[in-house]
Amino acid sequence: MRLENKVAIITGAANGIGLEAAKLFANEGARVVLADYDEAAGSKEAEQLRAEGKDVLFVQVNVADRESVDLMVSKTIEAYGRIDILINNAGITRDGMLTKLSTEDFQRVLDVNLTGVFQCTQAVVPHMIEQGSGKIVVTSSVSGVYGNVGQTNYAATKAGVIGMVKTWAKELGRKGINVNAVAPGFTETNMVAAVPDKVIQQMLAMVPLQRLGKPEDIAKAYLYLSSSDSDYVTGTVLNVDGGIMM
Ligand code: CAA
Ligand code: NAI
Repeated sequence: MRLENKVAIITGAANGIGLEAAKLFANEGARVVLADYDEAAGSKEAEQLRAEGKDVLFVQVNVADRESVDLMVSKTIEAYGRIDILINNAGITRDGMLTKLSTEDFQRVLDVNLTGVFQCTQAVVPHMIEQGSGKIVVTSSVSGVYGNVGQTNYAATKAGVIGMVKTWAKELGRKGINVNAVAPGFTETNMVAAVPDKVIQQMLAMVPLQRLGKPEDIAKAYLYLSSSDSDYVTGTVLNVDGGIMM
């Protein structure tokens, strides 16, 4: 098992990619905190995993709220005593063309996708520094690297996290902490279910591997960047997108 006895916090783990990662990490021996705003789905999924003998915990969190993030970290320490892995996976969209995008929708996406990543990482890092080790993964997107029609706010955050990842890799390398980003392409979750079919078809036409991503494709990249297999990898952006970005 690749994560035996490691303690991992995965934000946005009640659904989609984060949930798939929680299952994969638990199968690899990790103790997993499923941290999510969606209490109904998160506690149900955690209960299901515990019934299968996995050591997991659901913690409700709003990553945009600092107090809530601090509580997520203190509950994790209380339950497991350490934090080895942080997967900053929670994210939202509020799509709209530039000419129509409201300031509220612009700001809300920044609060969750950018400030949320800053807050979770800042709250977790002191524990990793004390331990002298840690793995941090941040979820970017094809939209952050290439831009995407209708996603001014989202693309800004997904490009912004790449800047933070590279900065943190430089700041935290000497503390034994690896910091990397994963940039998924269009992946089959609720987030993509709302995209007009016309747009999906346009995207698919640009994917050499000729399919959308599956949550497990992305979860496996999180696993690589959280395990000792990637000990000499930091500050990188791993594109998991079927080749769309060439
Ligand atoms: N490329 C080029 N032109 C596009 C386009 C595209 N991908 N999408 C829309 N347009 C054009 C339309 O053809 C239209 O042109 P005309 O004015 O000449 O007719 C114009 O832009 C306006 O488009 P809409 O009529 O669709 O405008 P709207 O205001 O009703 O809706 C929108 C705008 C909400 C952005 C809608 O187009 C939409 O939802 N697009 C999908 C956005 C998208 O890809 N989101 C990804 C979500 S998944 C995710 O975010 C995960 C991830 O990391 C990838
Ligand atoms: P999803 O919508 O299925 O899951 C997102 C999860 O984040 C949900 O469980 C939701 O409750 C949670 N969440 C939202 N706001 C939160 C908050 N303020 N605090 C705590 N939890 C919150 O989406 P999906 O597709 O699984 O997305 C996961 C990550 O992958 C996101 O960061 C997304 O931007 C990114 N991504 C997704 C792609 C896709 O095509 N699905 C492509 C590229 C990146």
